[in-house]
Amino acid sequence: MKYVFVCLAACLFFAAPALAEGPADLFAKNCKGCHGADGSKVAMGMTRPLNSLTLDEVKAALAGYKSGTYGGEKKAMMERVVKPLSEADLEALAAHVDSL
Ligand code: HEC
Repeated sequence: MKYVFVCLAACLFFAAPALAEGPADLFAKNCKGCHGADGSKVAMGMTRPLNSLTLDEVKAALAGYKSGTYGGEKKAMMERVVKPLSEADLEALAAHVDSL
């Protein structure tokens, strides 16, 4: 019983930081500067405003930047942002962008 408790406590401890950072926080920290708080900004004068994209378009773009199969002239910028994020983060971010 004691071991179950220790395991549970450890799991909660390690899961907490991940849970603390919801998609809105991730967006504010990683995306807002270039794309605007409501996704309406045209980043570097060249992107479509994120809030005009469909969920599938955002998902495809983020997955493509991560795998190096999507993007234009400034794709290195997005690759740098997206690479450290997990697939789950990107899914959550895409859903958040879709809700903007
Ligand atoms: C340093 C500025 C910068 C940051 C930070 C940034 N982006 Fe971008 N984003 C760009 C630029 C520039 C492009 C166009 C890149 C290219 O040439 O493909 C772009 C493109 C995109 C596109 C594709 C748009 C289109 O028209 O096809 C999506 C979707 C996107 N970004 C989402 C995000 C998300 C979500 C985040 C946060 C995780 C983020 N971006 C963070 C600058 C940024």
